[in-house]
Amino acid sequence: MALAIKIENLSKYYRLGIINNGTLWKDLQSHLARLFGWEDPNLVIGWDSAYDRDGFWALSGINMEIEQGDRIAVMGRNGAGKSTLLRILTRITAPTGGCFHVKGRIASLLEVGTGFHSELTGRENIFMNGAILGMKRREIKRKLDDIIGFSEISGRHIDTPVKRYSSGMHVRLGFAIAAYLDSEILLADEVLAVGDIKFRQKALDKMKDLSLNHGRTVIFVSHAHQMLQELCNKGIILENGKMSLDMSPVEEAVNRYNEMLGIELPKEM
Ligand SMILES: Nc1ncnc2c1ncn2[C@@H]1O[C@H](COP(=O)(O)OP(=O)(O)O)[C@@H](O)[C@H]1O
Ligand SMILES: [Mg+2]
Repeated sequence: MALAIKIENLSKYYRLGIINNGTLWKDLQSHLARLFGWEDPNLVIGWDSAYDRDGFWALSGINMEIEQGDRIAVMGRNGAGKSTLLRILTRITAPTGGCFHVKGRIASLLEVGTGFHSELTGRENIFMNGAILGMKRREIKRKLDDIIGFSEISGRHIDTPVKRYSSGMHVRLGFAIAAYLDSEILLADEVLAVGDIKFRQKALDKMKDLSLNHGRTVIFVSHAHQMLQELCNKGIILENGKMSLDMSPVEEAVNRYNEMLGIELPKEM
């Protein structure tokens, strides 16, 4: 099976502020330490190894291989690094270390609103997204009816600036664009939670169809375990920026994640 994505030792460091140790001398010490690669004498030995004096590792040591046509469930608690991973894959942010290889074009559905220009109409946004994926105007035109139809955004609304759209309309249009425009890989980050149940099922069916019948690779971040199990064949768990479970069959991943949550829930619940 051919690989769609290969991720090697990927990491992302977020700085939480500027150097501020309280005195100029300490700041200078820290700065020199960083410059020359010495151990920083002002480093706080923290309770959490992900944190140091200036920031923390939102991701570290991430390795995985995703095969073409795989549907990967990405699980993990809030702040685990799921969105950071997807943002790196779509090149919205750059990794601090490590590298990744992607074979094919990525269509993504990240947080509501990303990928849209709010002053442009729905129709104009379809063309803009197509252009970003490298499609010709003629090719986009051919898919226009399918996209608008799937999004269920009616008549006049499609020619209204998307800043006037409800969050549900955003998601429906975003999903329709990601599904119908040419791409080999589809990323979705907790977006379907906003849509109504009927659209959610329709979107899930569409993703399944794209993957099983057209070889589209899907990476799906969601807390809806039922949806994950229905759509995905494999899964991973992130915990504090690390892989707490490597690529596994989706049932195993969901079970492990439930166990993990169970352990962390207070006894009285
Ligand atoms: N631009 C940023 N600057 C600093 N910290 C960030 C930034 N983006 C995300 N983070 C932090 O990185 C961690 C991982 O975030 P994220 O990937 O969004 O988690 P998840 O999607 O799993 O809930 C969180 O602690 C979050 O607060
Ligand atoms: Mg997130």
